[in-house]
Amino acid sequence: MKPTKAMLKNCLHTLLAAATLAIASPALAAGGHALPYAFEPDTGNTASVRRGAANFMNYCSGCHSMRHLRYGRLGQDLGIPENLLKANLMFTSDKVGDHILSAMPGEASKTWFGQQPPDLTLESRYRGPDWVYSYLMTFYVDPTRPLGTNNLVLPGASMPHVLWELQGLQVQSEAHAADGEAAAHGEAHGPQFELVSKGKLTPKEYEKFVADTVNFMTYAAEPGREHRVSVGIKVVLFLILFSVLAYFMKREWWKDVH
Ligand code: HEC
Repeated sequence: MKPTKAMLKNCLHTLLAAATLAIASPALAAGGHALPYAFEPDTGNTASVRRGAANFMNYCSGCHSMRHLRYGRLGQDLGIPENLLKANLMFTSDKVGDHILSAMPGEASKTWFGQQPPDLTLESRYRGPDWVYSYLMTFYVDPTRPLGTNNLVLPGASMPHVLWELQGLQVQSEAHAADGEAAAHGEAHGPQFELVSKGKLTPKEYEKFVADTVNFMTYAAEPGREHRVSVGIKVVLFLILFSVLAYFMKREWWKDVH
């Protein structure tokens, strides 16, 4: 059957719709609404990724695993020698070939939290770095919740605000609480939260702590990315150089033909 004009048009529309969705979906990850924070990860900043790895091991690995990543790979990519890796980052194992597992017993944690803390290796790709950043920034006091806190981008989250000592405790500012629906989607105007009890870190330091952690999680979701990008740039440079050479060679070879 020969494709008709209408069929081609239909096909083109479907492709366009799919492309629009693919571009729009990360920005709308929180149930079709904009997130309260935007975050551009920088996995090329090795110092930040290293700090993030330490944050993760100290504050998250008690409950969450990163079972697709091995300690050895982490040490290699981040330039951490084996003795430092063992002393500072390896709490659940002493073999660098091991995957990063958590100390949390799976079945028991379901009873404690209502569900098992998920593996976080691919979290930053699954939800997007902005979502993870927003999640860690927006735990707030909510006395109606069993653990006393709630989360703006994951309402009813069963994870406790494990970083409260660092961030302090915040409540939704009145304008936001009154404007419930809009606030839940970060659309209300004015400051979202008020700090009611100070943490060990200043708000700026806490932002940096979260940024480092999300940089690490973004690295973990795609450990080969930096290498791939650097090879990609070299390949493109080579192709440009080669095209220029090819052009001059062609001119040289064909100059007597015309
Ligand atoms: C005390 C255990 C515990 C600790 C420690 C902990 N979490 Fe969680 N976390 C959970 C539980 C339980 C959930 C499931 C929440 C839900 O879906 O209601 C969760 C969910 C998450 C999610 C959302 C997963 C999703 O896509 O739904 C992210 C992201 C996350 N945790 C990141 C972290 C980070 C980063 C740290 C360290 C700073 C951390 N967690 C520390 C228990 C913990």
